[in-house]
Amino acid sequence: MPTILHIQDLKKTYDSGDRHLTVLQGINFSLQAGDVCSIVGPSGSGKTTLLGLCAGLDRASSGSVILNGIKLDSLSEDERAQVRNKYVGFIFQNFQLIPTLTALENVMVPMELRGERNVQQQAMELLARVGLAERHDHYPTQLSGGEQQRVSLARAFSNKPTILFADEPTGNLDEETGDRVEKLLFDLNHEAGTTLVLVTHDLDLAAKTDRIIRIKGGTVVSDQVTSIVNDE
Ligand SMILES: Nc1ncnc2c1ncn2[C@@H]1O[C@H](COP(=O)(O)OP(=O)(O)OP(=O)(O)O)[C@@H](O)[C@H]1O
Ligand SMILES: [Mg+2]
Repeated sequence: MPTILHIQDLKKTYDSGDRHLTVLQGINFSLQAGDVCSIVGPSGSGKTTLLGLCAGLDRASSGSVILNGIKLDSLSEDERAQVRNKYVGFIFQNFQLIPTLTALENVMVPMELRGERNVQQQAMELLARVGLAERHDHYPTQLSGGEQQRVSLARAFSNKPTILFADEPTGNLDEETGDRVEKLLFDLNHEAGTTLVLVTHDLDLAAKTDRIIRIKGGTVVSDQVTSIVNDE
């Protein structure tokens, strides 16, 4: 399997005024195509920061991110946006749907950016897949949290990403809705054969992935194949 993501000595420092906060202290790992992996760790340990860097949403202070053979570190903002649109899906903890667009239009955006055809039909099919066909003309404020997260799932899969990042995809949902979103995420991922990296506080969810990377204080403290973790 080809390497889809290679992270090398990744460091991130946030500067505000004369204060420097080093959040990632040198992270290393690689993922092969089709891997399903979770990142766990205490609040503030740098998980969201790491995910954002891996997905090209932000730039590291040093070290490198190679995504699908493309070195993101030296790219401009626009170039990174192009790489994201071509290869990356992202599910945000707080959904981040565009408030002025309907559910259907939100799902259509990534496909329109790629200049695809039959965008509306494909978006409707995805909405149907997440059980929201009849809600296609609702705006985000007219949807429940679980429904918004399902729209964001449909949007994340709409550009057929090579790699999908999900930051606490079930974190803001009640248990039953969370279970439903979790199942949809794994089902859609399985069907598409996407590489999946998810951040979660839910160790039961993490245990369903093939590999768990634990970070603490901005460093990787363990990196285990799940079958080994489960055997312990
Ligand atoms: N833009 C920013 N400017 C300054 N500090 C930031 C910024 N973003 C995050 N931080 C700090 O970096 C640290 C790591 O934040 P991050 O969001 O990556 O943690 P996390 O592991 O995702 O936590 P949680 O589990 O609570 O979501 C925190 O101490 C946070 O305050
Ligand atoms: Mg976070």
